[in-house]
Amino acid sequence: MKIVHITDLHLVAPGETLWGLDPRDRVAACLDDIARWHSDAEFCVISGDLTDRGDPSAYRWLVDRLENFPLKTFLMVGNHDARAGFVEAFPDTDRDENGFVQYAHRSDQGVFLFLDTVKGPVSEGEYCAMRRDWLAARLKAAADDPVWIFMHHPPFDIGLPYMDRIKLEEPRAFAEVLAGHSNIRHIFFGHVHRAAYVNWRGISCTCLPGANHQVPLNRESVETPYSAEPPMYGVVLIENAKTVVHFEACLDRGPVEMG
Ligand SMILES: [Fe+2]
Repeated sequence: MKIVHITDLHLVAPGETLWGLDPRDRVAACLDDIARWHSDAEFCVISGDLTDRGDPSAYRWLVDRLENFPLKTFLMVGNHDARAGFVEAFPDTDRDENGFVQYAHRSDQGVFLFLDTVKGPVSEGEYCAMRRDWLAARLKAAADDPVWIFMHHPPFDIGLPYMDRIKLEEPRAFAEVLAGHSNIRHIFFGHVHRAAYVNWRGISCTCLPGANHQVPLNRESVETPYSAEPPMYGVVLIENAKTVVHFEACLDRGPVEMG
C-alpha cells in the first residue's frame, strides 16, 4: 500500500506571494509530480496549514486544483487555517460530533486517524478533552489493528526553540490517550517545516518540509526567520504494518552530468 503525505501549503490569495515565493506554483508542481509518479497511491493526506491566513480565495484555489487530482485526498487543518473557512470550502470533509475536523479511514492495512489540533487564531496546538475522548474511542474501535496517526502539531519538542514553544499543549494528556496502544505504528506530523524523524515513547514519527518556505535548523544560518530550502512530499509504503517513508524533493530533482 502506498500513500502520499504533503503538509503546510500556506496558500495565499491569487496574485500574492509569500516570503518571496509562490505557494501556488509550488503546490501545483508537487501535485502534478504526485499525479505523474504516484497515481497508484491509495490516498494523499495534506496535514494542515492549507492556507497562510485562511483566505477564502486560497481555499477556492485548492478546491479547483484538487478537482482533477487523481488521488482521494484527506484534508486537515493547521494553526494557519480558519476552521470555518475550511468547512465552507470543503463541506464534505468529515467532522466529529463536536465539529472538529477529525475522522478515521479504514483500509485493508489498518486504521488511519486524522486529528484536529487547532486551538484557534494562535500558533500553538491544542487537543482538548472532547477531542481526546474521540481519539480514545477510535483507538478502542481499532482494537489490535495497526493504526497510523496524522496530526498537524507535534506533541513533543524537536530541538528547535522557535517551534517547541508552539507545539501541542498538554502533551502528557495526549500521550496518556495513546498509552497502552502498542498497535500505533507511526505518527505523521507537520507544522515544523522541516524533514525530521522522531521516536517518541516508542512510536516512530516523521515530519516534512512545507510546500512553500521552511524553518532553518540553525536560526542564525540565514538572515530571515524562514528559509528557502527544497519542499518535499512523503511517499509512504506500508506492508504488514512495516512503514517506510521516502522524502521526495520533487522540485529540486534533475539529472546529473554523465561522462
Ligand atoms: Fe505551517
